[in-house]
Amino acid sequence: MKNIIVTGCNGQLGRAINRALADQEEYKLVNTDVPELDITDIDKVMALAKEVKPYAIINCAAHTNVNACETDGDNAFRINAIGPRNLSIAARETGAKVFQISTDYVFSGNTDSHYKEYDAVHPMSVYGKTKLLGEELVKEFGSRYFILRTAWMYGEGKNFVRTMLALSEKSDKVQVVNDQFGTPTYSMELAKAIAYLLPTDNYGTFHATCEGECSWAEFAKEIFRLAGKATVVEGITTDAYDKKFPGQAHRPAYSVLDNYMLDMTTDFKFAPWEAAIAEYMKTL
Ligand SMILES: NC(=O)c1ccc[n+]([C@@H]2O[C@H](COP(=O)([O-])OP(=O)(O)OC[C@H]3O[C@@H](n4cnc5c(N)ncnc54)[C@H](OP(=O)(O)O)[C@@H]3O)[C@@H](O)[C@H]2O)c1
Repeated sequence: MKNIIVTGCNGQLGRAINRALADQEEYKLVNTDVPELDITDIDKVMALAKEVKPYAIINCAAHTNVNACETDGDNAFRINAIGPRNLSIAARETGAKVFQISTDYVFSGNTDSHYKEYDAVHPMSVYGKTKLLGEELVKEFGSRYFILRTAWMYGEGKNFVRTMLALSEKSDKVQVVNDQFGTPTYSMELAKAIAYLLPTDNYGTFHATCEGECSWAEFAKEIFRLAGKATVVEGITTDAYDKKFPGQAHRPAYSVLDNYMLDMTTDFKFAPWEAAIAEYMKTL
């Protein structure tokens, strides 16, 4: 039996990992969230790793509130950077593989072409900067790591899809940003990619999103179409949205990721975003 420590198990990805690995009997999941394992505490991380002797550590924990990170930088630093460092040190000491999840927000978004893994990073928000440092520390302290950069994730938990559906209950028109482009990614798709890589030695940094691209406004339209709602989506620019709701973190205008490393080194394929959201909507 191979023990796998899952951190942040109550989050969207943590729950998806549990579903994706549920029928794989060779793995035993050791599920942890803040009460069981605060990843910012190196002593607790080391103690659990020594007790469990994990085959892998899958880090699903993070400070994911992008706006809150701007004013909560210390916690963002601890959770998004020091946490992965701690897990990487523990993995090195116990011989475990590490999965670190990162983000398209490590890029500036000032481009109109897809980002490959070799493109230069330039995060513009505290969230993006702390996540990038998390990547760097995982590389600094570990060797058997998989860093997966994903984007616009939805699953079991709080996310854009649920926010849109809740708004549509209150209003027949919603304003959604129409000049930021990316790729909505279902947590189950990412969990399947992790399950695929788990038994391999195919280490490195991977872009890991569904296929295709859209704006948030186009994504909202597709959600309402699938839900059979007549809610009208009114496009709004990022500038206008920021004026209406001050305190927004900077978000990349164009952060479509090319899953180049996966394509070049594996035969794993993500679903197109339209197919993945249709699949997700069936679960609601
Ligand atoms: N969601 C997205 O759109 C998106 C996009 C790109 C990348 N990502 C990355 O994907 C990964 C998974 O995201 P997600 O959406 O599944 O996140 P999520 O739903 O916010 O879940 C994160 C989990 O981590 C827990 N946590 C927070 N601080 C912790 C700590 N110190 N120790 C242990 N657990 C802690 C959270 O608990 P509390 O709820 O109690 O804080 C929560 O249960 C993250 O690395 C994130 O940066 C997400």
